[in-house]
Amino acid sequence: MRHLLSAADLSVDETLAILDLAEEMAQVQSRPVKKLPTLRGRTVVNLFFEDSTRTRSSFELAGKWLSADVINVSAKGSSVSKGESLRDTVQTIDAMGVDALVIRHQASGAPLQTTDWVRAHVVNAGDGTHEHPTQALLDAFTMRRHFRSLGDESFVGKRVAIVGDITHSRVARSNVALLTTLGAEVTLVAPPTLMPSGVSSWPVELSYDLDAVLDRVDVLMMLRVQRERMSGGYFPTPREYTVGHGLTRDRLARLGEHVVICHPGPMNRGLEISADAADSAASRVLEQVSAGVAVRMGVLYQLLGGDADTDTTAGADR
Ligand code: NCD
Repeated sequence: MRHLLSAADLSVDETLAILDLAEEMAQVQSRPVKKLPTLRGRTVVNLFFEDSTRTRSSFELAGKWLSADVINVSAKGSSVSKGESLRDTVQTIDAMGVDALVIRHQASGAPLQTTDWVRAHVVNAGDGTHEHPTQALLDAFTMRRHFRSLGDESFVGKRVAIVGDITHSRVARSNVALLTTLGAEVTLVAPPTLMPSGVSSWPVELSYDLDAVLDRVDVLMMLRVQRERMSGGYFPTPREYTVGHGLTRDRLARLGEHVVICHPGPMNRGLEISADAADSAASRVLEQVSAGVAVRMGVLYQLLGGDADTDTTAGADR
């Protein structure tokens, strides 16, 4: 694997290899001294053109716990705010001799485009409404641990409902790709205005009725309503959204005991998820955050761990 751009590029074996590696990394994470020498002398740059709390800090911790040097560059405060192009920015950073570029960008396809311009390994940390592959991997890691605790870690036949603003969600797209590759049955639940066009060709079931889906799931993944990507009225009022598609206290009470709740964060409490649900025993939100560091350690290790010093082919073998 030279770059990680899309969950859709990962085979079952590649996915399971990363998840297994992340299990080993999670052991390091639980030690008092969280440091492996593996990536000593390697440099990782987090290049974030969009806001982020958990993705950026977990990539930073992941790199540091593997002993890589990590720097963060955000659009605000960099030459991007002086009008520098994406190409000039990534080539400038690449020219310093970095080994991996972790990119978040508001344009779908920006990380793929970047691979044509740099020598470094490129990791997509979220591009527009396209993909967020490490999020899908950490979600799968969290679900797999849950399934394992119930006696069968396989995804085959497991039912995952992804609920909410599917239209604007790169998390949903990456999860559909990864979960269906692993054999899970995915149902997308949203109001019609928040179902993306073309969704009928995706390998999923569709529902406009959350209540009808609740008693047929193993995992309920709630998505943030991405108001910053919305131009018009996608739903009449926040209250109506919550009544139709929010994980309210009443809906929480109806979930089977084996069901867990995921949310990629940041959460709009009171809109797509109630505080009762977010803080309930069924919630795996903080486990997802912990998994984020372990999975990103696994990804950086996969990309950089076996590198020969002579590997300098720009854009090759993606
Ligand atoms: C997501 C993102 O940025 O795509 N957040 C995250 O990475 N944890 C989802 C979101 O912003 O709603």
